[in-house]
Amino acid sequence: MSTALVTGPTSGIGEAFARRLAADGHDLVLVARDEGRLEALSGELSGVGVRVEVLPADLADARQLAHVESRLRDPDRPIDVLVNNAGFSINQRFVGGQLEREQLLLDVLVTAVMRLTHAAAPGMLQRNSGLICNVSSFASFMPFGTYSAAKAWVTFFTQGLASELAGTRVKAIATCPGFVHTEFHQRAGVDMSGASSWVWLNTDQVVEELFADLANGKVLSVPGRRYKSMAAAAHVLPRDAVRRLERFRRTRITGVRR
Ligand SMILES: NC(=O)c1ccc[n+]([C@@H]2O[C@H](COP(=O)([O-])OP(=O)(O)OC[C@H]3O[C@@H](n4cnc5c(N)ncnc54)[C@H](OP(=O)(O)O)[C@@H]3O)[C@@H](O)[C@H]2O)c1
Repeated sequence: MSTALVTGPTSGIGEAFARRLAADGHDLVLVARDEGRLEALSGELSGVGVRVEVLPADLADARQLAHVESRLRDPDRPIDVLVNNAGFSINQRFVGGQLEREQLLLDVLVTAVMRLTHAAAPGMLQRNSGLICNVSSFASFMPFGTYSAAKAWVTFFTQGLASELAGTRVKAIATCPGFVHTEFHQRAGVDMSGASSWVWLNTDQVVEELFADLANGKVLSVPGRRYKSMAAAAHVLPRDAVRRLERFRRTRITGVRR
C-alpha cells in the first residue's frame, strides 16, 4: 500500500487530489491549517478503506513546516506521493502593498514546496519509486506580481527536477491550471463575477488531466483545450506582447489595474 501526502486538501484542488488518491487506494497524510476540516475529510475518506493521518500545519511557519519535513523523511513510514498544492493569492499591488503578505506568499508557494520536495525526494530515489506533483498555475506563463513569479518558480523548478530524476522511477510533474472553481478567489477577495463561463475549470478536470499527462510522460500539464492553446501562444509570442496581453486580461476580468 502506498502513501500520499497532500498539502492543502481542506478545499479545492487539494481536496480533489485527496479524493482521487484515496479512490486509487493510497493511504493519505493530510496537511493544512484547519484541523476541523482535516478531521472531517479524514473521517469521510477513511470510509473508503484507506488509512488517513491528519497533520495540521501552517506551511508559512518554519517550525510547523519542519515537522512536515520530518514526516516526509521518516524511513519507517515512507511517503510515495507528494502533492505540493497548498496556496493562496493576495489581491494587492506590489508597490505600496503590505510586504508581510508578499513574504507569506513566497513562504507557502516557494519555500514550502522546495523544502518538502527536498525532504521527500531522497527516500523516493533510494526506493527508486515515487511521484512529486506540484500545483503551479497558468499564471506562471503570464507576468503579474509575486504570485505569478512564485508560480513561475514552481513550473521551472518542476521541469528541472524532472530532468534531474530522468532515468529513475521517481517522477515530477506540475499542473498549470487557469481559473478553477475553488475557494481561492473568494479567500483572496478577488471579484470574479465579470469572468466568462469558459474560463472556468473544475477541480476533478485538473487532477484527471494531470494523471493522464503523467501517463503520457509529460512534465507540465495544462488542463483545458483553450488554456493549452493559450500556453502554446505564450511560449512563442514576444515576452512584451505576453505582458501587455496579461495586463489587458486581468483588467477585463478582475478590474485590477497593474
Ligand atoms: N483556483 C484557481 O483558480 C487556481 C488556479 C491555478 C492554480 N491554483 C493553485 O492551486 C492551489 C490550490 O488552491 P485552490 O484553488 O484549491 O484554493 P483553495 O480552495 O483556497 O485551497 C487552498 C488550500 O491551501 C491550504 N493552505 C493555504 N495556506 C496554507 C498554509 N499557510 N499552510 C497550510 N495550508 C495552507 C488551505 O487550507 P487551510 O486554509 O485549511 O490551511 C486549502 O486547503 C494553490 O497552490 C493555488 O495557487 C489555483
